[in-house]
Amino acid sequence: MRDKQIEKLIKEEEKRQKSVINLIASENYVSDDVLKALGSKLTNKYAEGYPGKRYYGGNEIIDKVENLCIDRALKLFKLKKEDWHVNVQLLSGSPANFALYSALVPIGGKIMGMKLTSGGHLTHGHPLSMTGKLWKSVQFELDPKTEVIDYEKLKEMILEEKPDIIVCGFTAYPRIVDFKKFREIIDSCAIINGGVKSLLHADISHFAGLIAGGVYPSPFAYVDSVMTTTHKSLRGPRQAILFVKKDERGFDKKLDKMVIPGLFGGPHENNIAAVAIALQEAMKPEFKKYAKQVVKNAKVLAKELQKFGWHIISGGTDSHLILMDTWMEGKGISGKEASTSLENAGIIVNMNTIPGDTRGVMDPSGIRLGTCAETTRGKKEKDMINIAKKMDKILRSK
Ligand SMILES: Cc1ncc(COP(=O)(O)O)c(C=O)c1O
Repeated sequence: MRDKQIEKLIKEEEKRQKSVINLIASENYVSDDVLKALGSKLTNKYAEGYPGKRYYGGNEIIDKVENLCIDRALKLFKLKKEDWHVNVQLLSGSPANFALYSALVPIGGKIMGMKLTSGGHLTHGHPLSMTGKLWKSVQFELDPKTEVIDYEKLKEMILEEKPDIIVCGFTAYPRIVDFKKFREIIDSCAIINGGVKSLLHADISHFAGLIAGGVYPSPFAYVDSVMTTTHKSLRGPRQAILFVKKDERGFDKKLDKMVIPGLFGGPHENNIAAVAIALQEAMKPEFKKYAKQVVKNAKVLAKELQKFGWHIISGGTDSHLILMDTWMEGKGISGKEASTSLENAGIIVNMNTIPGDTRGVMDPSGIRLGTCAETTRGKKEKDMINIAKKMDKILRSK
């Protein structure tokens, strides 16, 4: 590289990544092939529009790349082209959710999502996100005792609020989301509400790789739309994919029109090629083994931390993700202090609010852990036991 300043920084970051234990639940390590596609000459090409309908010439090869990515997205999640429409041009999870709402919910309509402190994402209608400003927002919380979704309460809220769209699938929820139950509730509410039916949108950003690997339930049979980022458990580049049901409602056309010309210009075809590679990798038998190991590792890590007396939200995990209460009603330390001391000892996590948190997002009561990145690096159950020991020692010494 001729730019020595940037080259040096890249090398330093590579060294940092190698030297730490990475428990950031939303991070992973991509393959060399994914990196090659990201750094390829596909980045030179403008391709506004869609395969076969571009505003620029010279896209015959780019069209093949984008079509391949779409076909692989359908294949990975076992979907039929006749039933589902796929858009692979979304640059990341937040703009993807924004594009979806913009396409399907009239401005001023109502979005229902889980509150940030319960594990929802900013783009699920948080007041600081544009999704909570352009649309009305109503937010549900977890049951304070069980720390899981209270489906009965959810139903009452849907009946009262009549949201246009409900988001299921979260950012810090360790348990399985019952997509079928969401569907049943929406259908039963529609009967009572004289046919008014909320749309159901699944945000599977966190556990898409686990669905692909067969260790987490798929939402596709129950929802109207699905969004996933591709850089978390799916182990691809930073990008997102949107899926909408193909039927008489015309969501496919609405979505594509909202993405371009509604919100974006030229797609990043180097990213799209890298996503296509990650999707292909996720179809391999090794990926199934990987996904299984991710969940096994998370279960062991949660259990070991519990043995040391730490409060694990909801009592454990069904996924790659663990939410740990480090504050423990003043008996422990804050999430910020916990993440800083762990980082000083080479364990990288993120501070996180926990259900019912009153400490605020900048110094919350907990930390979020995930096992996707370390499992990619070959870590197994015995390593999780050691990590838990190390974590406990560090947190207790504070
Ligand atoms: C559930 C969920 N949705 C959306 C996003 C947003 O993705 P991005 O950071 O790529 O904008 C995230 C990221 O953490 C997420 O966890």
